[in-house]
Amino acid sequence: MKEKTMENQFKFEGSEDLIKEFLSYQHIYSAAIKEVTTKLEILDEEFKLFHEHNPIHHIETRLKKPKSIMEKLEKNNLPETMEAIRTIKDIAGVRVVCNYIDDIYIIAKLLTSQRDIFLEEEEDYIKNPKESGYRSLHLIVTVPIFLSEGVKRVPVEVQIRTIAMDFWASLEHSLRYKVKTDNTEEISKRLNRCAESIANLDIEMQDIYRSIRESNGEVVK
Ligand code: GTP
Ligand code: MG
Repeated sequence: MKEKTMENQFKFEGSEDLIKEFLSYQHIYSAAIKEVTTKLEILDEEFKLFHEHNPIHHIETRLKKPKSIMEKLEKNNLPETMEAIRTIKDIAGVRVVCNYIDDIYIIAKLLTSQRDIFLEEEEDYIKNPKESGYRSLHLIVTVPIFLSEGVKRVPVEVQIRTIAMDFWASLEHSLRYKVKTDNTEEISKRLNRCAESIANLDIEMQDIYRSIRESNGEVVK
């Protein structure tokens, strides 16, 4: 498995030692992903127990590949060192796909108020969508990982979004690579309009859900 990963790094010839060093360090990021995922699953189950609703639809995780890490170093003009790799905050990635917009903020608050989780950065692309129309709540948190030689704080990028936001982001991501340069602007405009429509649907679905709960006699905040 590891050998196969090394084979894909030809573009970064001369960086074999660094890639090897990173691969021996990679398990720490996997551990951080597991830690955050377990916390989220526990929160989801507990919420279901008390509120008869699962805020989380599903969770996806990804570990940045050595090739992407090397590309990010290059893109950010960083040296090819482990110190520089450690400044990359999205090596461990957890994507939380929620049912409703309110669920996003509930999950973010529950996660970041845990004592061992430190919130390092927060970027609310729902309140301030990106130029593309992209919407999600991005958090960089650090989580303690207990190793034989001591405790290490490891950063994890947590992207929290609704099913609708996720639908748009995954299609837009795959379409972006297919667009020819002559019609880029037109396509971007159309994708942006789709993002707007999807955002309106999210608001409407959220509203329907709130109305139902209110008519069932629940106190909705
Ligand atoms: P990166 O070098 O990509 O990490 O840039 P950054 O650190 O400025 O992060 P940013 O918050 O802009 O985005 C990080 C991640 O959010 C990306 O890797 C994507 O997963 C997602 N993302 C951001 N913008 C878009 C977008 O316009 N479309 C889609 N589909 N995803 C996006
Ligand atoms: Mg990033």
